[in-house]
Amino acid sequence: MALRITVIGTGYLGATHAAAMAELGFEVLGLDVVPEKIEMLSAGRVPMYEPGLEELLHKHVEGLPGSTGRLRFTMDYEEVGAFGDVHFVCTNTPQKHGEYACDMSYVNSAFASLAPHLKSDALVVGKSTVPVGSAARLKQLLADQAPEGVELAWNPEFLREGFAVQDTLHPDRLVAGVESERAEKILREVYATPIAEGAPFVVTDFPTAELVKTAANSFLATKLSFINAMAEVCEAADGDVVKLAEAIGYDERIGAKYLRAGIGFGGGCLPKDIRAFMARAGELGADQALTFLREVDSINMRRRGHMVELAREALGDAGFLGKRVAVLGATFKPDSDDVRDSPALNVAGQIHLQGGQVTVYDPKGMANARRVFPTLGYADSALDAVRGADIVLHLTEWREFRDLDPAELGGVVAQRLILDGRNALDSATWREAGWTFRAMGRPKA
Ligand code: UGA
Repeated sequence: MALRITVIGTGYLGATHAAAMAELGFEVLGLDVVPEKIEMLSAGRVPMYEPGLEELLHKHVEGLPGSTGRLRFTMDYEEVGAFGDVHFVCTNTPQKHGEYACDMSYVNSAFASLAPHLKSDALVVGKSTVPVGSAARLKQLLADQAPEGVELAWNPEFLREGFAVQDTLHPDRLVAGVESERAEKILREVYATPIAEGAPFVVTDFPTAELVKTAANSFLATKLSFINAMAEVCEAADGDVVKLAEAIGYDERIGAKYLRAGIGFGGGCLPKDIRAFMARAGELGADQALTFLREVDSINMRRRGHMVELAREALGDAGFLGKRVAVLGATFKPDSDDVRDSPALNVAGQIHLQGGQVTVYDPKGMANARRVFPTLGYADSALDAVRGADIVLHLTEWREFRDLDPAELGGVVAQRLILDGRNALDSATWREAGWTFRAMGRPKA
């Protein structure tokens, strides 16, 4: 009989994983402790903006017209335990308030709530990003609280927001931390074609599987801070970081991806993952190995302040006081409504606190931005946001902003002055339309 799958925690990771598993043909039961989420998902609605996910839910959620009925949601751990052969734990691990370490309480309580209800041949699979050593501890928890025979595997996830469905259905690689042939066999069965078609399947132990995830995110963060450090030097030397990135990117050992300099990285993953990694290395007595990540973090955070400085400089002596500042973008990246640790919103907030009259527009992030930063001004379109502006800041590189007509915007601003914080706009078109155009890490002219 086909394996029955459950997914615990239905955030970006869990909701996407549950829908993808249903797409692969499995019967899937998703669990969350937040009633509103269960209500929305059961109606085929996604609690966040993620391209393609709603369509996948509609295709599979039980009770929706024309659906396969393979996917449903519950809040009941007992039901989940009785239903599932394989349980994917996808709860989040946010940064602890005021600390570098991450908060494991959601993962811990998911394991503790699930354990007593499991069938004796169940496989529990951890997917959350956790400090190395967590799997060993959770294995002990299962040994103490679950029926004999229950096994654990660790299977980190590498999906990007905005590409969650695509990344889940067509992963670069699959990583399986296992301690038995049986656990490996079950995971291989779950990820049988088409999901794993052509994707390398790396089998390893628990600590390595946990570390692969933090190492991958740390490497990505380092690459971004490297190119942003080059942007700083380019500005000092009147060089062009966009050309520099293009030229070094042709070297396959370096690679062209993930080299866009600007106001730096944000979101719910990279910033907190490098901090949690440093905290964990400290506990293990290996903190020296990761001191460079402190530098990666500080280069990244410096970018936000630098953007604020560039804007102030461009406005002249009076600074932000009495000036209208239009901010295009609030989310931490395009194709997402996520404003967690968003560089764009942070820059907008700093300018607001320094006396600027800030008006923000974002294609999908308005509701979240308003909730996080209610005192900023908000507009319903890019055109409305820039009306009367003394300066326009482009801070999240949505397609919609690349398609804007500089001449039309030029007709409503107080001053044709734009700073591109993402190196994504075409400077020539803006300059041709009479704008003073500046970008981070690029020559002024
Ligand atoms: C990141 C990783 O890319 C995923 O592989 C990982 O699975 C995920 O974290 C996670 O741990 O769950 P995500 O946070 O969705 O994914 O976003 P990214 O696309 O990696 O972007 C992160 C930040 O870097 C954004 O603020 C983005 O604007 C910025 N970025 C990205 C740049 O500034 N320049 C670039 O060239 C690329």
